[in-house]
Amino acid sequence: MSDGKTLWHGRFASGPAEELMAYTASLPFDRRLWREDIACSKSHVRGLARVGIISNAECDTILSALEQVESEMAADAFVFVDSDEDIHTAVERRVTEIAGPAGAKLHTGRSRNDQSVTGLRLWCKRVVPEIIARVVSLQEALITRAKEAGAGDDAVYLPGYTHVQRAQPVLLAHHLLAHCWAFGRDIERLRDASRRLDVSPLGAGALAGSSLPLDPEFTAADLGFQRVFDNSLDVVSDRDFVAEILFALSLVAVHLSRMGEEWVLWTSDEFGFAVLDDAYATGSSMLPQKKNADIAELARGKTGRVVGSLTGLLVVLKGLPLSYNRDLQEDKEPLFDAVDQVSLALSALTGMIATARFAPDRMRAAADAPTMAATDLAEFLVQKGTPFREAHAIVGSLVRRSLAGEGSLAELVRAEPALGEEATALVAPGVGVRRRTTRGGAGPQPVAEQMARLEAAMKVWAQK
Ligand code: ARG
Repeated sequence: MSDGKTLWHGRFASGPAEELMAYTASLPFDRRLWREDIACSKSHVRGLARVGIISNAECDTILSALEQVESEMAADAFVFVDSDEDIHTAVERRVTEIAGPAGAKLHTGRSRNDQSVTGLRLWCKRVVPEIIARVVSLQEALITRAKEAGAGDDAVYLPGYTHVQRAQPVLLAHHLLAHCWAFGRDIERLRDASRRLDVSPLGAGALAGSSLPLDPEFTAADLGFQRVFDNSLDVVSDRDFVAEILFALSLVAVHLSRMGEEWVLWTSDEFGFAVLDDAYATGSSMLPQKKNADIAELARGKTGRVVGSLTGLLVVLKGLPLSYNRDLQEDKEPLFDAVDQVSLALSALTGMIATARFAPDRMRAAADAPTMAATDLAEFLVQKGTPFREAHAIVGSLVRRSLAGEGSLAELVRAEPALGEEATALVAPGVGVRRRTTRGGAGPQPVAEQMARLEAAMKVWAQK
């Protein structure tokens, strides 16, 4: 059909308009499914031979043509022609050129409706584990940095924030590990989506199955799918798996974005908590002194389009009656873009975090501000029997008087009858963070215990 005819030319008196092809073709983006499309065709052909619809000789001829197409694709030597609407028609057209009459039997009992979604599911099965591996690498970088920051007596600590206001001191390891747990949940979500998408649609045909004695269970197993579809109408129109992956990726992107925002703050002169390695920072075209955290900013910025991809797909799906509608072709670009963007962001942030230099002195200085001890002073009073609300008011008024210039917080604490000399120790540098002793808390002992639990969880998350 290299004479410009489409696969569906029989029904039509004239050829397709140029604008029709330009508008409806999906080849520009679905050509990246070539491996999966060929795998799908190989299984389909083996299935046809198994039930006697084609002969073994025809099967071998088509299979070797498919092999040839595969090497042409791999070598980037495959020549596409104008009538190639999508990767499926391109491969079939070329197989027919190579295999002759046998090639014309390749599409027996199959539609692009079951074929394209089979390829897309196969692609997801291959790509999702690759994304998980990148998430694991980022977690490993965070864990390495957390271990360096330590959970012993000399551990690095910084202010923990609420409302971007200094709240209580936390170990740097605690802060870094907080992100690790979020990425662990992302991995679980991606795995869960992977399990559910592991269903072969091949054999559903255009929408209703076939009059030919096809064996969908055979092709499913041959392609390595765990399960086979139960309802042909459902499976040719189901894109839940794309939506689920897009949601899981959107949440990864949101996590990267939130972490990115922290790095933008941390690397500012105002915070000064970290300095990026030159290889992971950018300069300004005009301002010679600038060193910018563009990776972190783009992790924040590109999250918009990942979330947009999820939203876009859901809007495509919401009005579609059963079963296949051409709208469903709009499943691929958002998925591919989200996969590409999240993959790039994961790797770039991993490198940025692995190579950045922390500034423990700046962190400590910020975390040792005397007011950071306010909650500990209130809890000191609670342990002496003062109701918490009263203790809160006593300490709050000392903070207010100190800020008004009546004396340092330590001096006011010493002079306060309910607190006194013993309590002034709480205001001393480095004391507060060691008092965060409860499970899951920010001090050395619970963080060391947390690290052990995280490493056990990592064994599961990092499993291939
Ligand atoms: N390129 C199309 C897709 O990705 C293939 C299906 C076309 N099917 C059809 N009946 N026109 O969905």
